Amino acid sequence: MANQDDQFKKVISHAKEYGYVFQSSEIYDGLSAVYDYAQNGAELKKNIRDYWWKAMVQMHDNIVGIDSSIFMHPTTWKASGHVDAFNDPLIDNKDSKKRYRADVLIEDYCAKIEGKIDKEVAKAQKRFGEAFNKEEFLSTNPRVLGYQEKIDSILTRMGKSLEAEDLADVKALIEELEIADPLTGSRNWTEVKQFNLMFGTKLGASADTAMDLYLRPETAQGIFVNFLNVQKTGRMKIPFGIAQTGKAFRNEIVARQFIFRMREFEQMEMQFFIKPGTQKEWFEYWKETRLKWHHSLGMGVENYRFHDHEKLAHYADAATDIEFKFPFGFKELEGIHSRTDFDLKQHEEFSGKKLQYFDHEEKASYTPYVLETSIGLDRMFLAVFSNSLVEEELENNTTRTVLKLPAVLAPVKAAIFPLVKKDGLPEVAKQIVEDLKWDFNVFYDEKDAVGKRYRRQDAAGTPFCITVDHDSLEDDSVTIRHRDTMEQKRVKIADLKDIINAEVDVKHWLQKMQ
Ligand code: GAP
Repeated sequence: MANQDDQFKKVISHAKEYGYVFQSSEIYDGLSAVYDYAQNGAELKKNIRDYWWKAMVQMHDNIVGIDSSIFMHPTTWKASGHVDAFNDPLIDNKDSKKRYRADVLIEDYCAKIEGKIDKEVAKAQKRFGEAFNKEEFLSTNPRVLGYQEKIDSILTRMGKSLEAEDLADVKALIEELEIADPLTGSRNWTEVKQFNLMFGTKLGASADTAMDLYLRPETAQGIFVNFLNVQKTGRMKIPFGIAQTGKAFRNEIVARQFIFRMREFEQMEMQFFIKPGTQKEWFEYWKETRLKWHHSLGMGVENYRFHDHEKLAHYADAATDIEFKFPFGFKELEGIHSRTDFDLKQHEEFSGKKLQYFDHEEKASYTPYVLETSIGLDRMFLAVFSNSLVEEELENNTTRTVLKLPAVLAPVKAAIFPLVKKDGLPEVAKQIVEDLKWDFNVFYDEKDAVGKRYRRQDAAGTPFCITVDHDSLEDDSVTIRHRDTMEQKRVKIADLKDIINAEVDVKHWLQKMQ
């Protein structure tokens, strides 16, 4: 655990030191769970968004993108169920006065049992060596089976109690498991209560006529209310999708873990409208397709897993999370939800407008079912950033810090250096910058020894460094250094664009999905 904590602290301080993420309003001591993206962070975030948009919108003939408003008519949230049901169960500790999500306390308890299973696996692996069969061990070892049974029974009971709004039983479960305040160890708990996560605000100048509004807690509803407009104007035929990226706001009870759980964050969502009865097939299709998108970035297939929901959201008939191995363990990165016709039917009822689709093949109208993919952009940022940050032992017994961002996402693709600040080398280097900046985000640096400049760019995540030396004046060639292998090659200046492009081009990365 100490190691995980240390690694996570390194991620947070590295993000600040290299201009990726700052605490919001830092000069006023910050604002809890609100963050700003700095010069490199804004580029990385944009590249992740573009990578998603390319794969989800532009590579699909039947998916289009929109950009709806954060403010929506307040009835939207009544219809969607968020006014009545977008709650988290909270519990306060009477001694420490700290507030927690009751379900998270229970899930953390289960994660500790899961840690015990991992320890048993590691021990057995050591004992049996090559002959070790993990699957078999997990399904036969009595101690592991006992732990797993305990986890399953706790989570099933919690799921049932939350479903039935039996908050007294959620508290009883916390007491039976003797769960203590993680900060103080106190077990003096209040009752469990529901807490609505939406932020309210007002529209209008005068107090008596102002309208109560909410900041949207998900971007999805902007898609549902535009469903018919897009279908008609885009002449879309089912199955088809509408995608968008944008800010969402939630008054999270426990906002911690840096940009993992924020109060203001960005989502990348896609609603796929389908024929009723086909939701199972599409659920499988989108699970597979989204996992392939993640795998295309090469961050280790072992770092992803599916987690099917025990407790379904008020709108879903099936749901799974794609979990990623963050520095603090496997946690939700993306949700895939079979939302049935819940949202469109609700909006029909509350607006009095028909939101149906006329199927020319079936010669009938129906309310489409919806398959949703929903990923947090900030969470994806954290996944990419934390997975990329490594401390490497070098052959000469030194270490280097390197941010091995997938090259397609790196904020700066190449840094260009003159070996020395004289003899006409800066002029050649600056001309290379001028030529390359039409195609890539590039950076010029002439300060310090070249070795130090390499290290700075390794830590900032730049895939290529290009050095202009005295020979460049004669042979129109430069040295190009690769961030991950540290290999250096002599290449023609005229070939730089193609060499960089071969590694950073979106096509090269997304083709791995096929
Ligand atoms: N429209 C469906 C929906 O909003 P969700 O599971 O509540 O579903 C989807 O959220 C994704 O949004 C999550 O998988 C996560 O990546 C991201 N997300 C949710 N709450 C977040 C928060 N407070 N901070 C950062 N990301 C968040």
